[in-house]
Amino acid sequence: MRAGPVTGTWPSTYLASDGAAYERFLGRWSRRLAGHFAEFARPADQGCVLDVGCGTGSLALTLAERGAPDRVAAIDIAAPYVAFARSRAAGAGIGFAVGDACRLPYADSSFAAALAQLSLNFVPDAAQAVREMRRVVRPGGIVGAAVWDFRGGLVFQRLFWDTAAGLDPGAGAARDRLFSGPLALPDGMPVLWRASGLIQVERGSITIRMEYADFADYWEPLLAGQGPVGAYVEGLPPERRQLIEDRVRAAFLSGAPDGPRSLTATAWAVRGIVP
Ligand SMILES: C[S@@+](CC[C@H](N)C(=O)[O-])C[C@H]1O[C@@H](n2cnc3c(N)ncnc32)[C@H](O)[C@@H]1O
Repeated sequence: MRAGPVTGTWPSTYLASDGAAYERFLGRWSRRLAGHFAEFARPADQGCVLDVGCGTGSLALTLAERGAPDRVAAIDIAAPYVAFARSRAAGAGIGFAVGDACRLPYADSSFAAALAQLSLNFVPDAAQAVREMRRVVRPGGIVGAAVWDFRGGLVFQRLFWDTAAGLDPGAGAARDRLFSGPLALPDGMPVLWRASGLIQVERGSITIRMEYADFADYWEPLLAGQGPVGAYVEGLPPERRQLIEDRVRAAFLSGAPDGPRSLTATAWAVRGIVP
């Protein structure tokens, strides 16, 4: 089942149809990012924490394992991802829900923190989502987010999009939308945080490594139909897809035999306090 169209009135631009496929594509790495993001955000030791745009649960599980908050809640618009997260987190005590970040189904001031990892840039009205995160967090609590630094710091996507853009103007247009979205730029989130009335706003930058066993380990998850890459690849005629694969393989290998490659991935992070 597809979690809605990529364009139109659906409140997400992220193609999210299969939790297991997302795990291979990105979840295995967003789990790694989550520990660093939780350390950056520093939610209080007491109170509930909300994971907004939780996907398959990387951040929610990390928060629950850290044990500090009394309870973790998590919400995502994509029912297939929430179903996957529920089954993998059975027994962790996380309250998962399907819903829109722009209309959070929680009472005012009910959380100590609301954190959104890699999701806000896929919410068409991100300012409304931040207003909602602020509304559900108590005064003194934390509103935080992380978004990939696509333009300057995301090697696995650079490899794909820059190679494809040289062969297909459609890929160039998709890359430019993703890489130059306002929240992925250095000041995008801090400006939005201040405009939303959050105080003591801090920006950070978090780098992880994505370790691939070989080219197949890098390439095959891109074909699984998740996110902007998946949506683009699904629409390609077979000959063009083969040509892009051949050129991306050459870029991935960079003249050395196939085998392990370690690619860096950097996210911008922001945290602010509810006055
Ligand atoms: C790149 S994934 C990140 C998932 C997860 N936070 C992680 O770190 O792996 C982006 C997520 O944002 C979710 N999303 C996009 N728009 C949303 C909205 N309006 N409300 C809730 N979730 C949304 C998508 O369904 C998807 O799961």
